[in-house]
Parts: sequence; structure tokens; C-alpha cells
Amino acid sequence: MASDSSRVALLGFGTVGQSVARILCSGEVPQVRLTHIFNRNVEQKRVDWVPASVCWTDSADEILASDTDIVIEVVGGIHPAFEWAKAALLGGKSVVTANKQLMAHHGTELIDLARSRGLEVRFEASVAGGIPVLRALQEGLAGDRLVEVRGILNGTCAYILSRMQSDAISFADALIEAQRAGYAEADPSEDVDGADAAAKLAIIAAVGLRRPVRVADIVTKSIRPIEPVDFEYARELGCTIRQIARASAEDSGAVFATVRPALVPLSSAFGRIEGSQNLVTVRGIFGGETSFSGSGAGGSPTAVAVVSDVLSVAARGDAGPADAPRTAFHQVSGDFVAPHYVRFTVNDKPGILSQITAAYAKFGINIEGVLQLPKFRKDRLPFVTTLEECPESVLDRALAEVARSDYHVQPPLALPIFS
Ligand SMILES: NC(=O)c1ccc[n+]([C@@H]2O[C@H](COP(=O)([O-])OP(=O)(O)OC[C@H]3O[C@@H](n4cnc5c(N)ncnc54)[C@H](OP(=O)(O)O)[C@@H]3O)[C@@H](O)[C@H]2O)c1
Repeated sequence: MASDSSRVALLGFGTVGQSVARILCSGEVPQVRLTHIFNRNVEQKRVDWVPASVCWTDSADEILASDTDIVIEVVGGIHPAFEWAKAALLGGKSVVTANKQLMAHHGTELIDLARSRGLEVRFEASVAGGIPVLRALQEGLAGDRLVEVRGILNGTCAYILSRMQSDAISFADALIEAQRAGYAEADPSEDVDGADAAAKLAIIAAVGLRRPVRVADIVTKSIRPIEPVDFEYARELGCTIRQIARASAEDSGAVFATVRPALVPLSSAFGRIEGSQNLVTVRGIFGGETSFSGSGAGGSPTAVAVVSDVLSVAARGDAGPADAPRTAFHQVSGDFVAPHYVRFTVNDKPGILSQITAAYAKFGINIEGVLQLPKFRKDRLPFVTTLEECPESVLDRALAEVARSDYHVQPPLALPIFS
């Protein structure tokens, strides 16, 4: 591959693809030349600011058969993006992608294939959009052994939760607002139930912690059960609530990974994240904590990450040595040990607290405090217990026992408290 003028083909001319093309056609990156743009119904996509030399096509095969050096995949989804990425590598082309689902589900296979052929798969934009976090973990922190990562990786959840926090509105109302503002899809499940952040966490775990994990093994919990009252009680504790993606690699070899709502201190960087901002904090055994924050989405920031990957591949020149396959997937547990917040909503009557404390005691869980704001109706009374550190699985067993009682108006809500 000629490093001073690599030929680049673009698969997908949507939000990110158009922003990538803008940069490649700007004259700012003479090291690479855009040769092809692929999209379905491509005639409807044509724009006049792309040079006439660029070939527009609705045939992916045309690109795969061409002499292009690097294929940029910004179509999205797992299929047929996976088949196209694989075919590109088999045809001797390196691949740059912004596709978290593709990399979370097939990244190991694609990277192995690329390495066996001295090619590259780059995917910086697949995690935290415009923040170059993967490169920072792989290169900037290569001298450390990273053992934990925590992140706010989903803008939809950050938007919804920060709106619930600031205006005391319900999840349903905040979601409608997020959809109107373009922060949430018509079907928001992937975002609010955790699958989107889990895919990104799987990529970070493989790159940063060097522990490839299956996305399906990451324990996810939805932000749907969060209510405005949880923000009131969280504030009493100096905290707010955010969807937190967390993974750790223990010395024992165990890997923990979850995506779930959690209490975080109001004064912390996590507590201050709103909208499409993302935050990733990693902890290494030598260097301690390092944080990265910035735009986690948006066409232009994401395109900068894509083009940076393209330039890096182009600068690397011809095939490097074939590399060994990566390690197999690690088993994952979601059973983090943490202090917890548990909100009960009960039809009040004497003896409820003593039953709950007895269940905690039975499972060896220590109560730190009880919070009850005075303004609520007795027949729908929310109150909170805060608990000292315990494994989530132990708390689940205690709550399963408590939940059998007839005074609950709705199931207890347990959230870890991350300091
Ligand atoms: N947008 C962001 O802020 C952002 C941030 C980070 C990562 N990403 C990732 O970047 C990728 C692209 O996202 P995007 O926001 O640019 O999506 P998008 O706006 O929907 O663009 C996707 C483009 O690919 C085309 N396409 C989809 N399926 C196709 C198929 N089977 N055959 C041919 N063309 C097809 C679409 O054509 P039509 O117009 O006909 O549908 C559209 O032009 C995704 O993997 C996404 O997760 C996006």
C-alpha cells in the first residue's frame, strides 16, 4: 500500500458517512484519496461537493472487487456489514468501522483475520464517538495494566436521566422529550435497557482490559424503573443517577461486567455528564485513574475518529507481520461488591422496617441508614435503606425474601452506589 496516497472506499453515506466524506474531500488529508461511495439507492444520495472522480455505486461487490486499499464501513448493523468487512479483508483491504455491534459481536474474528493477513481493522469511532479512547488505552496507557473501566457510554440515557434530575419529570415524559429532541430512537430499548452500552463495554474490555467477553454475557439492567423520587433520595445522599457501564479484571482471572443505573456523587465527573457527552475512566495498577470525556456521538466528531483511523492505517504502510490469534472469550459475572441504595414503595403499616432489617441481617447485610421524606402518602410510601458493601447476588436473595410480603405497592429497586 502506498502510504502517501491510499485509496479509500466508503460503505454508507448516512450521518457519519457524509461527515467522513466531507473531511476526505476537504483537501485537509492528502494522504488518502476517496475512490468510491456505496449506498443503497445511491442516485438519491449524490451530492455536488464530492469530486467527479469518485465512483458512486449501489453494488458492494464493485467496491470489494476494486483496487481500493481501505474500506470504511459506516452502514451499521451486524449483517451484511460483517460479510462485507470479512470479504474486504479476504480481498486484501484493511477495514475502518464505526460499528459497535459489528465489533462487539465479531471483532475478535475480524481482528484475527486481519492479523493473519497483515491487515488492520480499526474501530475507534465504535466507542465513545469522537473521544479517542481506544487508541489511548492501547497506546497511551500500554505501559500500565488496566484493571477497571467505568463509563457513561450512552447519550440517550444521560439525556433522559439528567432531564429527570433537573425537572423531576417521569421516565416516560423524559423519553418522549428525548425522542422529540433526536436523542432517542422510536424504539429506545437498545439504549435504555443497556444493550448499546454493553456492546461498547465489550469492546473496551477487549482493548483496555485485554479480556474479550461476549456481549450477551454482560449483565444489563434497564433505567426504566427509575422514578423522580429516586433523584430526591439520591440528592439527600449527595448523589444523582446515571447509566454506568463497568468492567473489571480481577487478579484471580475473574471478569466482572455490568451496564446498569447506579448512584454516583453529584460532584463527580460522572454526576455532571449530560446529553451526548461520554466519559470513560480507567484504573491501572501503576498509573491509577485516567479519564477521557467528550462528544460521544454526532456525525462530525465520529467522522474525525474514523478519518484518524484511516490515516493511521494508511501511515502504517504495507502488511506487518502476521500475528497470533487473540485469546478466547472470558467468563463474565455481574456480581460486583458495592454499597447499595434500596427503595421500597409500601402500603405503610407497623413492623415493615423490622421485617426488612431482619432479612438483611439473615444474609449478613449491614444497614448504613434509612431515609424517609415526610411528604408522601401512607398507602404509597417510598423510603430508602442504604447498605454497606455487599455482593449484588446476596442482596438479590435478601430482597427476594422481603418481596414475598404483601405490603409492597411495587417491587423494591436496588441500585449500587459508585463512589
Ligand atoms: N451517528 C452517530 O453519532 C454515531 C456515533 C458513533 C458510531 N456510529 C455508528 O456509525 C454507523 C453509521 O451510523 P449513522 O448514524 O451514520 O447511520 P445512518 O445515518 O443510518 O447511515 C447509514 C447509511 O447506510 C445506508 N445503509 C444502511 N443499510 C444499508 C444496506 N443494507 N445496504 C446499503 N446501504 C445501507 C443507509 O441508507 P438509507 O439512507 O437508505 O437508510 C444510510 O445512508 C453505525 O454503526 C453507528 O452505530 C454513529
